[in-house]
Amino acid sequence: MRAYDVIMKKRNGLENTKEEVEFMINNYVSGELKDYQMAAWLMAVYFNHMTDEERYNLTIAMLNSGDRVSLKDIKGKKIDKHSTGGVGDKTTIALAPMVASLGLSVSKLSGRGLGHTGGTIDKLESIPGYKTALSTEEFIDIANKTGIAIAGQTANIAPADKKIYALRDLTATVDEISLIASSIMSKKLAIDSDGIILDVKAGTGAFMKDIQDAKTLAESMVSIGKMNGKNMKALVTNMNQPLGMKVGNALEVYEAIETVKGKGPNDFQELCVELACYMAELSEEMSYEEAKEKLNKNIENGTVAKKMKEWISAQGGNSEVVDDPNLLTISKNKKEIYAENDGYIFNFDTEKIGIASMMLGAGRATKEDVIDLSVGLEVHVKLGDKIKKGDKIVTLYYSDNSDLKESEKTIKNAIKISDKKPDEFIVKTIYEI
Ligand code: URA
Repeated sequence: MRAYDVIMKKRNGLENTKEEVEFMINNYVSGELKDYQMAAWLMAVYFNHMTDEERYNLTIAMLNSGDRVSLKDIKGKKIDKHSTGGVGDKTTIALAPMVASLGLSVSKLSGRGLGHTGGTIDKLESIPGYKTALSTEEFIDIANKTGIAIAGQTANIAPADKKIYALRDLTATVDEISLIASSIMSKKLAIDSDGIILDVKAGTGAFMKDIQDAKTLAESMVSIGKMNGKNMKALVTNMNQPLGMKVGNALEVYEAIETVKGKGPNDFQELCVELACYMAELSEEMSYEEAKEKLNKNIENGTVAKKMKEWISAQGGNSEVVDDPNLLTISKNKKEIYAENDGYIFNFDTEKIGIASMMLGAGRATKEDVIDLSVGLEVHVKLGDKIKKGDKIVTLYYSDNSDLKESEKTIKNAIKISDKKPDEFIVKTIYEI
């Protein structure tokens, strides 16, 4: 087989066989296939797209390039969750205890933040003592004891994707649905869960700006998972505004704690409950309706908060933060931003809100950056809110190292106030189930 022929076939709009896709991936990982050949093939995929079969074969070839993580020693049904990422997305931290309170197991390997989006592992490190680096034995033991273990990823998962993603980044081939779907799913399928729920974000703070594109991506990923024998479900959810009100590491943990007690912001509370109930349904242990009834009770009677304490404590963290989230270190330096005119909150450039938080020190511009877990921001308004000139719209929590001026400027440019109300649809928490 010659790379030239495989590339030409794809360039001419024909379908590559399983063997051809494997040839490209395996030889690229081994170094025999050069960057320019892989780049040409990726560009041909970008223009001619992939069939379900090709996309699946690409996913499996990338999956097979690395390690798999076995969860077989963890008791109970294991439903994994993946979010395509956004601003203020602390979902895993509130969702895990909700799902565990329903008797399911949440064993998750999570990542760190980069650019305008945050990462679960950084957020969890704002809980004093919480250990994100666990041995496999510790991970399994904690998951079995408490129903939850969330740690950083150490296994060498899908190295082919890592190499190809870096090349896509340099060759303008990131935003093709099959390439995104196979990239994400090659990493998700490496973990032997019983099912996967996908939270595909759509809007100004998401990878997918357009709801229809997000839906197509969701369908592609569901199709790959099902072809692999997994129970799959995807929701397309709102990233046209930050999720909840708080953005930044300790601030987001604070909000997640409020949410396990039923006191979270409406959109975030709703999203966590919906995801938890669909995860329960995916496990085939109970129906969505049974899960909803039980979960609402568990939130109300403190069972979910208790689960969160057990989990944090098992991972070495100070579980008292659940009773008193003021024990989290949140910067005391605050700068308020006020509305400059009357009107409705019409539009958020949510990506810019994430960047403003990064400028304060809460996120990384490059992988090497050191972040400050105590800084970030709180948005006091949601899309469609009626406000008056002088109303407080955002609070910035900053430190001596924050670029406060730039952050404030970025926020002001990111929030549009209008005499028109935004479209009802844009304001919804969940666009599509
Ligand atoms: N996230 C991934 O992991 N891969 C992509 O291609 C895009 C987003």
